Amino acid sequence: MNASSIERFGSDVYRNTLYIEKLDLAFSQFFIRSPSGGYVGVSTGMRADFAQLEANLRSVGIEVGEVGSIVAPHFEADEIAALPEFSSRHAGVVAYAHPICAHALADIFSVKTKPLKDEVPITISGERIVPIFTTHVHQWDALVLYVPRLKALFSSDIFMSYGPVDASGDALRDIIGSIEKSGYLPSLAHLHAALMKIRKYDIDWIFPMHGPAIDSGIPQIIDGLIQYCTAASAREVAE
Ligand SMILES: [Fe+2]
Ligand SMILES: [Fe+2]
Repeated sequence: MNASSIERFGSDVYRNTLYIEKLDLAFSQFFIRSPSGGYVGVSTGMRADFAQLEANLRSVGIEVGEVGSIVAPHFEADEIAALPEFSSRHAGVVAYAHPICAHALADIFSVKTKPLKDEVPITISGERIVPIFTTHVHQWDALVLYVPRLKALFSSDIFMSYGPVDASGDALRDIIGSIEKSGYLPSLAHLHAALMKIRKYDIDWIFPMHGPAIDSGIPQIIDGLIQYCTAASAREVAE
């Protein structure tokens, strides 16, 4: 059975989730309420799931038409496919993305797009965000999003794990298990490079697109993953 839910973290982060039992994988989209009262969406989810997303948001008092901007972490259906639905509720919605992704989005959707710059802060819908390009994790145009006000990292497919979002376990073990189970990463060297960029930020919360949010032991998880990448690359060289 699939299960849909919406949850709030603190006062300003909403996570809409669809857990697909057949895949044992959850897909989450995030909505950040900025100090000015605007909303920034992170990922749109699939088109077929939009009606449920809209109903879930409404159940917590948010109309899709209030979402003024969407950040697309990379050009992949679960991240961007429902953009036309968002723009049908808010004609002025702007999609922010890596320049390559922004170009592609503008090519296929009639939606306004703006390219982000790597680690250059930008204020969108009243929220200051720092896009961090994480090339090849797992797509060429991948990025994650750091929100300094919330000390929150919206990490897309980094720190992902299988299972429902309310699972509790050893986060590092589950993340490594997911990397090995799915083989979704083209290269651990690129994951290593991405983690080295991420580790300098002061992070209290990690919100992955798949799997539970993480709010403890974050430096240890990042360092544990870095060690995993280093050890795995050493093994590859030795073989
Ligand atoms: Fe992805
Ligand atoms: Fe994903």
